[in-house]
Amino acid sequence: MSVAAVGGLVARRAGALQGEAVAPGDKSISHRALILGALADGETTASGLLEGHDVLRTAAAMRALGAQVERDLGDATGPLWRIRGAKWRDPERALYFGNSGTGCRLVLGAAAGEGVSASFDGDQSLRRRPMTRIAEPLVAMGASIDSNGGRLPIRLDNSALRGVEYRLPVASAQVKSAILLAALGATGATTIIEPTPSRDHTERMLAAFGANLEVTAEGGGRRIRIEGGQRLKAAGVDVPGDPSSAAFLAAAAVLTPGSDVLIRNALVNPLRAGFYETLREMGADVEFISERIVCGEPVADIRARHSRLRGVKVPGARAASMIDEYPILSVVAAFADGDTLIEGVEELRVKESDRLAAIEAGLGANGIACESGPDWLCVKGRGGAAPGGGRVETRLDHRIAMSFLIMGLASERPVAIDDASMIATSYPEFAATLAGLGAYIGA
Ligand code: S3P
Repeated sequence: MSVAAVGGLVARRAGALQGEAVAPGDKSISHRALILGALADGETTASGLLEGHDVLRTAAAMRALGAQVERDLGDATGPLWRIRGAKWRDPERALYFGNSGTGCRLVLGAAAGEGVSASFDGDQSLRRRPMTRIAEPLVAMGASIDSNGGRLPIRLDNSALRGVEYRLPVASAQVKSAILLAALGATGATTIIEPTPSRDHTERMLAAFGANLEVTAEGGGRRIRIEGGQRLKAAGVDVPGDPSSAAFLAAAAVLTPGSDVLIRNALVNPLRAGFYETLREMGADVEFISERIVCGEPVADIRARHSRLRGVKVPGARAASMIDEYPILSVVAAFADGDTLIEGVEELRVKESDRLAAIEAGLGANGIACESGPDWLCVKGRGGAAPGGGRVETRLDHRIAMSFLIMGLASERPVAIDDASMIATSYPEFAATLAGLGAYIGA
């Protein structure tokens, strides 16, 4: 079933989930493959690319900026994307990123480095999200940026950039990546200090595209130094499955009695694996099998089985490694025995929705008590099936939509969501993949 065409959806209990699945291509790596490919000399190929709306918007932006981006039929394993880089030109129209913070912020950084003049815009969710965190370091590098009070729409005007030293005030891979991409086109070196390590796909992929950058440990964080004035060289990218999307499948298996599911070829980069670590601490039977390195990234098959869970305390220090997984973790916590206390998650207030508010409302509508503060959440687990029976407002947030559908698969009564359209931003095959494992999600 395509979830793009439907309004709401409802998930209800069926039997055990069994079998194998593949999660869609990693969203973070897919955006980066397109952007780095569009900056590089020669032809970059990408297999396994996520064909969700967010990534397709980045592909469209790369074309508007002068790169050639084509989708070939590829082979039995799926389509092959070909990206031929170019010196970027000013696009004819505003670049529109829909729901995608990653696409918008990374392209803004890269475009500033390429000396492009362009306007940036997005949907109602993206227009509410903070852009000062990106604009501030880019302006310190010499970029000319006009925003709508720190939000979209943004106007970028061509100006020469110079390297800076910048300490990230928030643990954000989007901010780090925007600066790194801008730094490629700057004069002199740029140094970024990140007090807490965030996902490092940009660093890994820059190295694979021949860039000269140094990453050193500093305190508990990292110092990253990159020379300006570098041209990238095209590379081949095999995009592994997205651990943030695989998290929904793993959670469904852990919560649904009798389930045993194998998710093949998922990224297990330690800076993305905090959710799986937390699941194990809760007592879940989740293992990484056949760990290997693919295109410079750790990959494994993930086996998840139904388990009895206990509430845990999730430390704030883990937030960067599971930042997108808190909605599904909160749903998992609703079924656990005892409270789950989640700390250090103020960033959830500025995601596709205010996720702390959306989670609290969604859990409440389904009979689960929960408390929250500015940067914490406490879910009162039921020690068994959640009551369910609620209708959840998804607030233009794909992860809220998917999380509460997973809740419905294991709750006493069905769980409905008001709008499923956003699921296609990151996981177009979500409902079909779950149906293939034996789940019921329908209109
Ligand atoms: C992403 C970084 C994270 C994450 C987002 C993808 C990336 O955002 O939430 O879904 O690809 O760099 P922040 O950098 O804002 O934490």
